[in-house]
Amino acid sequence: MGHDPRKRLHAAAGAAGFTIILIFWLGTVGTELLGSQPMIAAVKGAILWGMIPLIACLAAAGASGLALGRRRTDPPIQRKRRRMPVIALNGLLILVPSAFFLASRASAGRFDGWFYGIQTLELVAGATNLALLGLNLRDGLRASGRLRAPAATA
Ligand code: HEM
Repeated sequence: MGHDPRKRLHAAAGAAGFTIILIFWLGTVGTELLGSQPMIAAVKGAILWGMIPLIACLAAAGASGLALGRRRTDPPIQRKRRRMPVIALNGLLILVPSAFFLASRASAGRFDGWFYGIQTLELVAGATNLALLGLNLRDGLRASGRLRAPAATA
C-alpha cells in the first residue's frame, strides 16, 4: 500500500508544501525580529519566487488527494477533503496578495503601520494553513497505517 507510487507522490507534494510554508514563516519571524530592513526585503523577495514551487506542490497534493480519495467516505478522508478548499482560498485570497504587498513595501523601505498590519495578518493566515496541512498529513499517515491512530475511548 505504501508503495503505491501515486500515494508516494501525493504525500511528497503535501509534505513539501508544508515544509515550504514553515520555512517562509520561520524566515519571516526570524528576520522581523533579528534582521535589518534590507534582509527583510530580501526574504520578502525570495518568498515571491518560492510561491511558484509552493503553489505547484499544494495543487499537486490537492488534485492527487482528490483522485486517490474519490470513493472514500471514511471520516478522516472526508475531513481532509473539506480542509482543502479552506487551504486554497486562504492561500489565494490572503497569502498571495499579502506576499506581493509586503515585498513591494519592503523593497521601497516603507515599514509603516500598513506593513506590520498586513504582516501580522499574513503570519496568522500562514499559521492557519500550516495547521490545516499538518492535520492533513497526520490523517493521511493514519489512514495509510504509517502513524498509529489514537486509542478508541471505550
Ligand atoms: C495538501 C494537503 C495534503 C497533505 C499534506 C496530505 C498528506 C498525505 C499523506 C502524508 C498521506 C500518506 C501517504 C502514504 O503513507 O503512503 C496521504 C494519503 C492519502 N491522502 Fe492526503 N494529503 C493532503 C490532501 C489530501 C486531500 C485533499 C485528499 C482528498 C480527500 C487526500 C486523500 C488522501 C488519501 C485517500 C490517502 C491514502 C490513504 C490510505 O492509504 O488509506 N489527501 N496524504
